[in-house]
Amino acid sequence: MTENLIDQPVTRDPGNPLDPPAEYTRLREDQPIVKVRFPNGLTGWMVTRFEEGSQVFTDPRLTALRPRHDTPEGEVAEAGEDSPFDAGFVQMDEPDHGAYRRLLTARFTPKAVQAKLQPYIDKIVDEHLDAIAEGPETFDFVEAMSLPIPCLVICELLGVPYADRDGFHEATVDLMDMGKPREVRDKGAHWLIDYITALIADKRRTGATDGILAELIDKAEGEDAVLTERQLIGLGVLLLFAGHDTTAAMMGLSTLTLLTHDQQRKDLIEHPEKIGSTVEELMRYLTIVQFGLGRVAKEDLEIGDAQIKKGDLVVVAMNAANRDPRAFQDPDTLDIDRKMVRHMGFGYGVHACLGQNVARAELKTVLPKLFQRFPNLRLATPLEEVPMDFTGTNYGVRKLMVTR
Ligand code: HEM
Repeated sequence: MTENLIDQPVTRDPGNPLDPPAEYTRLREDQPIVKVRFPNGLTGWMVTRFEEGSQVFTDPRLTALRPRHDTPEGEVAEAGEDSPFDAGFVQMDEPDHGAYRRLLTARFTPKAVQAKLQPYIDKIVDEHLDAIAEGPETFDFVEAMSLPIPCLVICELLGVPYADRDGFHEATVDLMDMGKPREVRDKGAHWLIDYITALIADKRRTGATDGILAELIDKAEGEDAVLTERQLIGLGVLLLFAGHDTTAAMMGLSTLTLLTHDQQRKDLIEHPEKIGSTVEELMRYLTIVQFGLGRVAKEDLEIGDAQIKKGDLVVVAMNAANRDPRAFQDPDTLDIDRKMVRHMGFGYGVHACLGQNVARAELKTVLPKLFQRFPNLRLATPLEEVPMDFTGTNYGVRKLMVTR
């Protein structure tokens, strides 16, 4: 371990778009817990190994209430002060985090997703595949599939009108784009706040009972209310943007990855039953959370051989940790048969993604159906010409031209 301060290396290498940059591999071997200066000017620690990274996410001496390290140069704000909406349980610790999260968990279990969402996912995926079959031979997969499916699913789950998708998606892109200045990101956030506020008012007026938003409205009403109005709006905003942008990014990038891995794609076409392990492996291999996730030390502590001081920011570079050879055999190979008990693609510990079973259901439906239906699907442009999103909080493709 070194006390020398380095600039955080760029998180993606345009020449090698599916792997972490070589510098992360080097750091993981030589300086696995290193002091870095993040692009916005904050300094803190960066962890690139799996074991040490999982400690950061599970040790109660670190809090989730952290300042953002991934904003543009000079844009530093205090923890909890960098968002116009209430970030709710995302930045809380136990026991408050668990109590808050439990308001939602029943809707996100594998059983609930299977019973309530899977038939709907099957239906919309089939409809979109039919539309692709009837449309032009060469098309943008993002527009045709990887954006609309997660939008439709989050609308169904929350009780949000799909007709409003362009507005909420554009606002989400602004909010999540760390290449844009704070005014633009805040504009996106305010659009979503105003939208959810109006939708809540509308649901109250009409007595709507459809979707999670209506259930949450009930929890913010009356003498035994467990949510304030600001928390209710914050939750609606969070679920709307976190619930579609992430999965859309993952679906596009997974498709690109399978299109550039012939053996794995053919194996999946022949053995669709491998889709469960394929999706987990893609989550590990691609790790779309682009800039890592931070926590702050509440007291002095050790991680590996690093002496972390109270108040220090510690960021886990999950893309590097998910390729750590100490945790995964042959980590740079996309092995769709891999037997894996854990990875960090959905985060780790108590804050691990609430919506992971929804995302899994979508990916497990789209990928096998897509390649079964269009076994000759191929890239319409060379890999190096696929426009990648290097500035979004989630890494992905901006556009993916394919020929069926
Ligand atoms: C492939 C798709 C997805 C990825 C890669 C992803 C990734 C993540 C990650 C890494 C975290 C941890 C954040 C942290 O520790 O601070 C997280 C948390 C969360 N995700 Fe996802 N997510 C995905 C899909 C979804 C979906 C579909 C929903 C909602 C329907 C959702 C809702 C949430 C919520 C509410 C949290 C906060 C959990 C907590 O703090 O306890 N996510 N997600």
